[in-house]
Amino acid sequence: MSRLNRCFNISDLKKKAKANLPASMYHYMAGGADDEWSLKRNISAFNDYQLMPNQLNDVSSVDISTNVLGCDLKMPFFLAPTGMSRLFHHDKEFAAAKAAESKGTLYSLSTMATTSMEDISKAINSDRMFQIYIFKDRELTREYVKRAKTAGYKALCLTVDTAIAGNRERDHYYGMSMPPKFTMKSMFSYMTHWKWAFNLLRNADFKLANVSHREDSLSQGPMSLIQYVNSQFDASVTWDDVAWLCEQWDGPFVIKGSQSVFDAKKIIEVGASAMMVSNHGGRQLDCSPAPIDCITPIRDEVGDSLELILDGGISRGTDIIKALAAGANACSIGRPYLYGLAAGGQKGVEKAIDILSSEVERTTALLGCKNIGEISREHLIHLNNY
Ligand code: FNR
Repeated sequence: MSRLNRCFNISDLKKKAKANLPASMYHYMAGGADDEWSLKRNISAFNDYQLMPNQLNDVSSVDISTNVLGCDLKMPFFLAPTGMSRLFHHDKEFAAAKAAESKGTLYSLSTMATTSMEDISKAINSDRMFQIYIFKDRELTREYVKRAKTAGYKALCLTVDTAIAGNRERDHYYGMSMPPKFTMKSMFSYMTHWKWAFNLLRNADFKLANVSHREDSLSQGPMSLIQYVNSQFDASVTWDDVAWLCEQWDGPFVIKGSQSVFDAKKIIEVGASAMMVSNHGGRQLDCSPAPIDCITPIRDEVGDSLELILDGGISRGTDIIKALAAGANACSIGRPYLYGLAAGGQKGVEKAIDILSSEVERTTALLGCKNIGEISREHLIHLNNY
């Protein structure tokens, strides 16, 4: 049995990712902000809900496919945008995008990726989404919109919870740097993860591929590319800028990183089609609520006028079903597929998708539903109401 075949759940993939990666890379992936309260709560909040089945329905055939953001998906979840995949595997974003295509779900490419949006479009034909920021240099943002359209991206995702960087203390403790640096401390960790280090030496393609063309314009200044990108985050962005960006993009447009009913109403006002209810996987504002606790109040307020995507804390198919029962149209996953990526490249990401989709399918059937459209609030019981 291959090592991936001995992974039966996302937690097994996480252990394998930890074994494969130098400490700084693993903790950059797995960690969160400040005391990591939100990181932990994103996961534990699912335990506050129970699933109530209805028995004796014909569930001999179960359909878990759905349509969200204008894309037909074979399962009610997709891959969230995550930056710098090269840190975790030498096949980087290609591995995740190809896995999404082969399994029939949506891949989201981050602005902070180590592969360009054009190269991803050459590698896959299936639906893909580009994740964008409104940068200080609005021309750069406008350029991304144009390039994403030309490269055939179906949907655009605007991340709004990064006005300034979150405080991720594990990065300081474990000496995280991009690109990875050779120091006394890191050398030991690299030597004990020699496969990762070998691939680092063989192919050190760590550049931020969607931004690297700006290096020319930086040639007179001392700023590195990462510093340049960080300097581009604009803490003065408002809903007017979001409305401006929405106008530039003619297609499915999702706002990622909002959690309140107030923001949901704003999202409808600016003309976006979807809200990714997310606290950035607990990496930005610590003590922000778990996404699962936010879905029902938002759904009650917006009715059918907005697609809702729960993002954060998924580690089981039952979590995805709870999100759907609470009112989400679909979920997105970050770390679960990154653990797969670090565990085994494309095959590892495919394994993560397979694990979660078979759990979703089994849970749907055990709940007494033939398809995910039949999952409703009556299947979900909060512990306080039982
Ligand atoms: C992220 N996330 C993220 N989000 C985004 O909009 N742009 C980005 O570049 C990144 N980069 C990134 C890197 C890493 C290592 C992680 C773990 C996360 C956040 C991501 O899209 C998603 O919101 C969370 O990962 C969801 O939480 P879970 O599924 O990881 O619990």
